[in-house]
Amino acid sequence: MKKILVATEKPFAAIAVNGIKEVVGLAGLELALLEKYTSREQLLQAVADCDAMIIRSDQIDDEVFAAASNLKIVVRAGAGYDNVDLEAATRRGIVVMNTPGQNANAVAELVLGLLVFGYRNFYDGSSGKELQGKKLGLLAFGNVGRNVARIARGFGMEICAYDPFCPSDVMEAVGVQPVSGQEDLFATCDIVSLHIPATPETVKSIHYDLIMKMKPGAVLINTARKEVVDEEGLLRAMNERHDLKYLTDVKPATHNAFTEQCTGRYFATPKKMGAQTLEANTNAGIAAARQIVAFFQDGCTRFQVNK
Ligand code: 3PG
Repeated sequence: MKKILVATEKPFAAIAVNGIKEVVGLAGLELALLEKYTSREQLLQAVADCDAMIIRSDQIDDEVFAAASNLKIVVRAGAGYDNVDLEAATRRGIVVMNTPGQNANAVAELVLGLLVFGYRNFYDGSSGKELQGKKLGLLAFGNVGRNVARIARGFGMEICAYDPFCPSDVMEAVGVQPVSGQEDLFATCDIVSLHIPATPETVKSIHYDLIMKMKPGAVLINTARKEVVDEEGLLRAMNERHDLKYLTDVKPATHNAFTEQCTGRYFATPKKMGAQTLEANTNAGIAAARQIVAFFQDGCTRFQVNK
């Protein structure tokens, strides 16, 4: 019987795990759980006899693959797969998939929640600002960006986006104004929300010069990956521009420096919270389980990200 391991350092909600159990059980597969693990050793031991894995932001590299001699498929229950060594997986003939879109609404809701929080000065009792009428710039118009646009419309915001991989008419069809480049987005928007993946091209792409182009009183919000922001450049910009705010769901490596130097203009969630909802856990977890079942039953490789 094939064994599916759910290895999640940051666990799914219990209801999501029950949903995964049901899908796996109905397909006649065995489920093993390694939740909230605290050491690499635990992970390396748990993978030893599994045929498939469901993971979240867990670091899956060649050492893990080497310890998992039966492993055929890893499904990242979520969008970003920068935590998986794709090259090593391909070399070992292991299929890697993600579950695109399944947690996009959860991340998008957090964006608007953080924005209200930031615009109201972190609820410190002082007079804040409203989102209505403000110009929101989305850097990338994928699943999360599109959901942010949908919700932001309800707030009465003006929305524009830059995404070299998304045709203008797709944006225009939902009332989003395409802009010609990221400089333009940073220079013209009151708020810039990052929705780019971490790739060799995007790492540290949000740099000092770009941030310094932002409008007076602008807010930068990052629910994507910390690696896309050049932290040193951002800190320098925020020290020179006391009107800028940074809200992030991905705690910077230099969190203490931001806390000390940007008091009242910086907020980071203690843990990555974007996809941490019952609904997102359920959607992404069950999608991952179904993709594994389809892979073993029919050889289905839809959503494979290493080819
Ligand atoms: C994603 O890429 O899907 C999100 O960043 C969610 O990550 P998480 O599963 O670690 O919460």
